Amino acid sequence: MKQIKKITCIGAGYVGGPTMSVIAQKNPHIQVTVVDINQARIAAWNEEDLSKLPIYEKGLDAVVAEARGRNLFFDTDVDKAIEEADMIFISVNTPTKTYGKGKGQAADLKFIELCARQIAEVAKDDKIVVEKSTLPVRTAETLKSILDNTSSGVNFHVLSNPEFLAEGTAIADLHNPDRVLIGGENTEAINALVGIYASWVPNERILTTNLWSSELSKLVANAFLAQRVSSINAVSELCEATGANVDEVAKAVGMDSRIGPKFLKASVGFGGSCFQKDILNLVYIARSYNLHAVADYWEQVIIMNDHQKTRFAEKIIQTMYNTVNGKQIAFLGWAFKKDTNDTRESAAIYVADHLLDEEAQVVVYDPKVSAAQVYKDLDALGTRAPEANRRLVKVVDNAYEAMDGAHAIAVLTEWEAFKTYDWAQIKEGMKKPAFVFDGRKLLDRKQLEELGFKYYAIGE
Ligand code: UDX
Ligand code: ADP
Repeated sequence: MKQIKKITCIGAGYVGGPTMSVIAQKNPHIQVTVVDINQARIAAWNEEDLSKLPIYEKGLDAVVAEARGRNLFFDTDVDKAIEEADMIFISVNTPTKTYGKGKGQAADLKFIELCARQIAEVAKDDKIVVEKSTLPVRTAETLKSILDNTSSGVNFHVLSNPEFLAEGTAIADLHNPDRVLIGGENTEAINALVGIYASWVPNERILTTNLWSSELSKLVANAFLAQRVSSINAVSELCEATGANVDEVAKAVGMDSRIGPKFLKASVGFGGSCFQKDILNLVYIARSYNLHAVADYWEQVIIMNDHQKTRFAEKIIQTMYNTVNGKQIAFLGWAFKKDTNDTRESAAIYVADHLLDEEAQVVVYDPKVSAAQVYKDLDALGTRAPEANRRLVKVVDNAYEAMDGAHAIAVLTEWEAFKTYDWAQIKEGMKKPAFVFDGRKLLDRKQLEELGFKYYAIGE
């Protein structure tokens, strides 16, 4: 196997962008080119002003500043980048299918397939093709079949290298991963990829497996994490009914070293681009092998998550005397978690949708999410006309403005800054009784109750 001198990554999104930036940072001798068909996105990656990069991640600007122009490039010429590369990462989106067989469950592989065909068409010499996007098990086989059957005599080695980074901590996760997983069949190709990570990751944390194990491990890791959140959320409802406190229960349970303390924070429901999509995928795969008990088991994690979002919205309505019609509800946060501008599958979208059905006036403040994105998320649900979303929802760039004159505040994202607000002043400007519904258990109950707020938090 020849030495890897040039890497190309197709897809400059939340995964491809940060991952390749770190690979380039840590391998100054390798030229890394990230390509995307979205010109605006590439232009943003090339922004002189690093605060304008297309995604917000702590520390990303410094990594880009170090490597960009040296051995890290962002471009729209996909063909050229494919032709030049020794190794090609595929990091395009794999949304849940919205049509046809597997609609609402299976992953839509059309973007992956298009990439494979383009690689096969353009490649003139042997390439290592690395799946980076999260994919259903046995996608590598599809990739390989397309590559082998449509190219002219070029050899392709397909590897699976799922990414485990979490948004908001992407750069820290990439710099110091719990493990790097590489699945494949060809030892030389595997070693070439191991070599790239070995520039900064200790050897014992680089795990090699067969292709299918690697692909499945990614789905299972996300399913386990989401399952913990749904488990504690199920317990949160029980706590509300019995007078237990979910944080106390989570702490007591999590101190058992076999269980561990992480991912036991009750919330308004998990969001993000991965958890739901990957579980739906797992469910779909299980069903396609007629493993219905397995499918039902994992599906319950999603059912519980949907229930938690609905339950939170219902709680708001019930508590506010069974009507929110015409009432102003301030949303603190729209992103699916703190420290990111990503809103994919964010619980806030679904909670808002439920309240809008009841004709509430929702005023949204999120420190990183734009008004355009909020409307886009609501319009995508198709629940009501875009004009109705604009009539009922206002997006402001000042939290105090969102809460001024409000009947209630709903905390949807756990941004640290929310804790530091002047709650006495906020209470003055609100309709009475002033309600706070804390979907993240972020604020200080004692402080708010002393100020006279009616405070409700998940699981208490
Ligand atoms: C996840 C996985 O963590 C990561 O390894 C994988 O590569 C991609 O999917 P991400 O979606 O970025 O990462 O966010 P994560 O931190 O896992 O949170 C997912 C959702 O669960 C968020 O909405 C978060 O608020 C929620 N969550 C998480 C809880 O409600 N409680 C918890 O205890 C933990
Ligand atoms: P992820 O969270 O998996 O990184 P994103 O949606 O953020 O997903 O990013 C995927 C990127 O892949 C998008 O910017 C999209 O434009 C790009 N993309 C999809 N298909 C192709 C393709 N055939 N060629 C180049 N880029 C593509």
